[in-house]
Amino acid sequence: SGGDNVSVDPLRMVAKEMKFLTGNIRQLLGSGHPSLDTVAKYYTQAEGKHVRPLIVLLMSRATALAPKSPRYNGQKVAADIDSPISPTSILSDSNPSSPSSNPLSPTESTYSPTDSDILPSQRRLAEITELIHTASLLHDDVIDHSVSRRGSPSANLEFGNKMAVLAGDFLLSRASVALARLRDAEVTELLATVIANLVEGEFMQLKNTAKDEKNPVWTEDTLSYYLQKTYLKSASLISKSCRAAALLGGAETGTVEAAYVYGKNLGLAFQLVDDMLDYTISEAELGKPAGADLELGLATAPLLFAWKNNQELGALVGRKFAGDGDVARARELVLQSDGLEQTRALAEEYINRAITAIEPFPESEAKDGLVEMAIKTLKRRK
Ligand code: FPP
Ligand code: MG
Ligand code: MG
Repeated sequence: SGGDNVSVDPLRMVAKEMKFLTGNIRQLLGSGHPSLDTVAKYYTQAEGKHVRPLIVLLMSRATALAPKSPRYNGQKVAADIDSPISPTSILSDSNPSSPSSNPLSPTESTYSPTDSDILPSQRRLAEITELIHTASLLHDDVIDHSVSRRGSPSANLEFGNKMAVLAGDFLLSRASVALARLRDAEVTELLATVIANLVEGEFMQLKNTAKDEKNPVWTEDTLSYYLQKTYLKSASLISKSCRAAALLGGAETGTVEAAYVYGKNLGLAFQLVDDMLDYTISEAELGKPAGADLELGLATAPLLFAWKNNQELGALVGRKFAGDGDVARARELVLQSDGLEQTRALAEEYINRAITAIEPFPESEAKDGLVEMAIKTLKRRK
């Protein structure tokens, strides 16, 4: 398996499942309240990259071939996994969580492959992962006062903060119900923990550095605080989703752990590249505001590396780039430094660790796909 192999197309390997992803997610998001229905489904309209579900599906296939856990006793697929979560129960007295109160209409039938090594529960996990991610984007765009997402006006701009926040909460609820229906307590606990981790990461980011000082100095803690924050905010979801995919497939402990380590390192690299692109790519290409981090008062990896060699940045970090000309000055110092190059090098290190983690997996197309996804993470421009 190699990175220059153009015949490796990760999307093609799970194309059947990916084809139904957005439709299935929109079905999970149905609400009897028309405007809630609109806001909740808003970010499913623009074509997202769907990186997380793609990786969950590839991980499901790649681990299907690995040894099973001794505790695994065949497919434990809940019969009600594809039952709709009653979308019209708001004004009715029927049990809102009872699938029988709203039978699946044949025209809306979801896709449950039987000829694939991906289990229905793993396909649903991919959808849950995207739901949690999308909920976090709805909330994130409110917190960041963002005006665009996926090349369109952000939900907060289009519908206002109140509806955007509530829609995010609604997505988390539907993700939770779908998760409960997997009937797997360990997987439920993993994904519930992810939601807490997202909030913890966002809180760490609000505080920016470990020590609250007006004129902070660079220490080794500066970088480890940033990396801990980055794990919680960005790598927890993909790492724990990868772990959950392996668990649902009944993989043995070593495989479950390898899936987690792959996801963790990929997630860290993904965010490092994201922080780099914020400095190097235009809003037009990103589909969301560029150069936003400094405006938001955030010192990400490129700036932290620049700061290590230039104490002048400490004062700017201390006042969150709020002084006159701070943003422009910080940007200039970052671009003059080797901060972007060091960020790229660190991302590459994590990518190599991700690839190494899954080396013991049996050779397969899906494994090559996971390697390709890792390499693509380094090369991506949006
Ligand atoms: C995007 O980061 C944001 C996240 C990856 C996580 C946001 C998490 C929360 C708002 C916590 C509460 C939400 C939930 C659903 C539990 P970014 O702002 O750096 O990226 P961007 O450039 O894409 O906006
Ligand atoms: Mg943001
Ligand atoms: Mg943010």
